[in-house]
Amino acid sequence: MSQSTAPIKFAYWVPNVSGGLVVSNIEQRTDWSYEYNIKLAQAAEANGFEYALTQIRFTAGYGAEYQHESVSFSHALLAKTEKLKVIAAILPGPWKPVLAAKQLATIDYLTQGRIAINVVSGWFKGEFDAIGEPWPEHDQRYARSEEFIRSLKGIWTQDNFSFDGKYYQFQNYTLKPKPLQQPHIEVFQGGSSRAARDMASRVSDWYFTNGNSVEEIQKQVHDIRSKAKANQHQVKIGVNAFIIARDTEQEAQAVLQSIIDQANTEAVHAFGDATRQAGAASPEGEGNWAKSTFEDLVQYNDGFKTNLIGTPQQIAERIVALKHVGVDLILSGFLHFIEEVEYFGQHVLPLVRELEQQQEITAKSA
Ligand SMILES: Cc1cc2nc3c(=O)[nH]c(=O)nc-3n(C[C@H](O)[C@H](O)[C@H](O)COP(=O)(O)O)c2cc1C
Repeated sequence: MSQSTAPIKFAYWVPNVSGGLVVSNIEQRTDWSYEYNIKLAQAAEANGFEYALTQIRFTAGYGAEYQHESVSFSHALLAKTEKLKVIAAILPGPWKPVLAAKQLATIDYLTQGRIAINVVSGWFKGEFDAIGEPWPEHDQRYARSEEFIRSLKGIWTQDNFSFDGKYYQFQNYTLKPKPLQQPHIEVFQGGSSRAARDMASRVSDWYFTNGNSVEEIQKQVHDIRSKAKANQHQVKIGVNAFIIARDTEQEAQAVLQSIIDQANTEAVHAFGDATRQAGAASPEGEGNWAKSTFEDLVQYNDGFKTNLIGTPQQIAERIVALKHVGVDLILSGFLHFIEEVEYFGQHVLPLVRELEQQQEITAKSA
């Protein structure tokens, strides 16, 4: 539904937490240091990636023992890149909307309009407990996030802005300077539950969802876009994928198998227990991890399910199939980030662009 003619976009997960993107003892030539991340960001922007997404974590949940803070880390990466947009994750609760609006407007100003925000709603009760934050029930967390997003957009676009919500109230606030990006800084959100999708169909510019099959993604796209249309709102869709591109399919599958065979069983189970407080606990049971198996959870946002695992040609075809059902962006994770981002840019991306062009020609001549 509503396939965009624009080229599909690519983002990557910034490894600003330790342990890489899979909960496995397999060797990962990925590092959470600033030095590694600068090289990665520069390689990514040189290889066709338009966005980078940093993660917000306060405590270890799945072996990610060390975590750099998302907003400051995003700003530091922006300072070392030229075109990349970096999406900083912010959690309503610890952040208030006026503070976030001001902080991001300043970063926007300092980085020539390249910051974006991912409003996360929380899935890890242990983390909230550890930092002294109350833990509202699932759909209340989204009600709060929705007020947070409405507040941000109001502050970024209007003078003397007032808000009188259940979670936030403020009066006649005028932010100066406003962000450089017009009409405002882009707002992403994560989650798959009913509440997450409904929020996307009302207020978010981008909806990020966990990895899944084309068929399941198509159902989500249809659901969100038909509701958004009724709300006269437009929302773009980003899908998570753990990409394993190798010269042969056998090689790629062997890497997947080794990741799963060497899974850190204890950490995967602990993560699975925590997610049951989040995705599976949403009232309708359709949250992010509601149907995840042990193998799925080894990549903590179900990235294997998207099946971008194989040869460059197989992967390019599957990416274009996702675009065909309405996906605008692939959010990617890799085992050995820098070298695989470069391989992706050299071997997969050109095939994606070729296939997109062929499809456009076919569509025009039809
Ligand atoms: C792509 C993506 C990125 C996310 N990033 C973070 C993050 O950095 N920190 C965090 O605490 N939660 C993050 N989340 C979690 C979501 O905000 C949400 O709390 C979780 O997916 C549960 O959603 P659901 O029950 O509505 O499906 C992310 C989710 C997705 C899909």
